[in-house]
Amino acid sequence: MDKLVIQGRRPLRGSLPVSGSKNAALPLMAAALLADGVTTLQNVPTLRDIKTFAHVLRISGASVKPDPERHHMTIDASRIDFPEAPYELVKKMRASFYMLGALLGRCGQARVSLPGGCAWGPRPVNLHIEGIKALGAEIDLDGGYVVATAPGGRLNGGSYRLEPSSVGATINIALAAATARGGSRIENAAIEPDVVEFCQALEKMGARLNGIGTRTLEIEGVEALRPITFRNSPDRIELGTFMIAAAIAGVPGEPVRLTNANPDHLGADFIDAFRRTGAVCVIGPDYVEVTAPQTLQPVSITTGIYPGFPTDLQAQWTVLLAQAHGSATVTDTVYGDRFNHIPELNRLGARAMVAGNTVEVEGGHVLKGAQVMSTDLRASVSLVLAGMVAEGETHVLRIYHLDRGYERLEEKLANAGIEIERVPYDEFAQPEPHAA
Ligand code: EPZ
Repeated sequence: MDKLVIQGRRPLRGSLPVSGSKNAALPLMAAALLADGVTTLQNVPTLRDIKTFAHVLRISGASVKPDPERHHMTIDASRIDFPEAPYELVKKMRASFYMLGALLGRCGQARVSLPGGCAWGPRPVNLHIEGIKALGAEIDLDGGYVVATAPGGRLNGGSYRLEPSSVGATINIALAAATARGGSRIENAAIEPDVVEFCQALEKMGARLNGIGTRTLEIEGVEALRPITFRNSPDRIELGTFMIAAAIAGVPGEPVRLTNANPDHLGADFIDAFRRTGAVCVIGPDYVEVTAPQTLQPVSITTGIYPGFPTDLQAQWTVLLAQAHGSATVTDTVYGDRFNHIPELNRLGARAMVAGNTVEVEGGHVLKGAQVMSTDLRASVSLVLAGMVAEGETHVLRIYHLDRGYERLEEKLANAGIEIERVPYDEFAQPEPHAA
């Protein structure tokens, strides 16, 4: 198992390159299953979640060839002869549940493990299931698996209103609807950039969509889709993470440049809140330049579905508030329980208190290095940010969580002045007893 060892309070200088989007690449990989032939994806990040999903696709019969050097991936879906996604893999990565819509859309049948718990919680997929039922699928829940069949081998199409709007359900229903006999409509559809890009790829494959980027997505089913070459967009959550890193660890007056980015995908709420902290951000076509202020202002945020403040940036924002002069709050309206990083941040000396789906942060206290434990992807990166500004040495453990969604993070940060290294460690080694 690996950990990151960080010597805090080194200034962040120079530039940080943004990798391809994880949450846009995953649905693009699922869409490739709909086409009989070889799809090529570009700007695909080398991440654990991408590797896991590539393995899920191979189980169904696809041949997936990543090219980590060029960040390309080819997916040959000429032969999809095992329409299943097993528990061992789906439990590792929730987006594997996209196989339900993809296999139904391609093969007219699917047997896909529920991602965790039951359909209604703790990470519900009820909207995915109800939406696909609305297209005419027959669905059984059998031993933790969703078994879906399109009567006569092809779905009819139908309409469904998502409540709440859901990224995953929008994508899953669209995957199944693309090759249905008739038309389909998704109301209250998600409009995240990841979803818009996925719809644009479906269109390029020959699908017929109307209302891309709006809350009402209409899809006219077609017989078959063709394989394409498609360039994945940059990761908006990594961009936001790097902007926060520059605001807290940059040298006041010295801009840090975040490159290979798409600033349009951040959403107005995040940029507005970011600027209200006093950090200066200059937005270019494919970069953002951030200049840290002398003192950070405390700015409370509330997450929301796009274009609201992304829930995937709330843990990182909490670290910024810990550095600000004053108190502020972070409220997550998308997930009510996404605060596992708070006890670990408090181990570093932060003063953060959770009440319901809000955390109150009293900023301005000096953080001191410690051993801290990652609990999930975005919690993990918030601990790295905190270690960058804490006095002394911080060990961030269980960074397999981090590797799910951040490519070569320690390399990128080390190239920008941060003293950080990846070190293997034995989680179960007993501490040596003190010599008597
Ligand atoms: C996507 O998850 C992202 N994952 C998440 O990023 C992100 O946090 C989330 O969208 C919200 O933006 C990927 O794109 C792979 P949802 P998803 O369905 O699709 C409720 C990361 O860190 N809901 O939009 O699973 C759900 O409980 C990950 O990269 C139902 O009630 O999120 C939540 O409250 C973490 N029933 C809300 O909808 C359902 O059937 C939004 O969830 C599905 C969802």
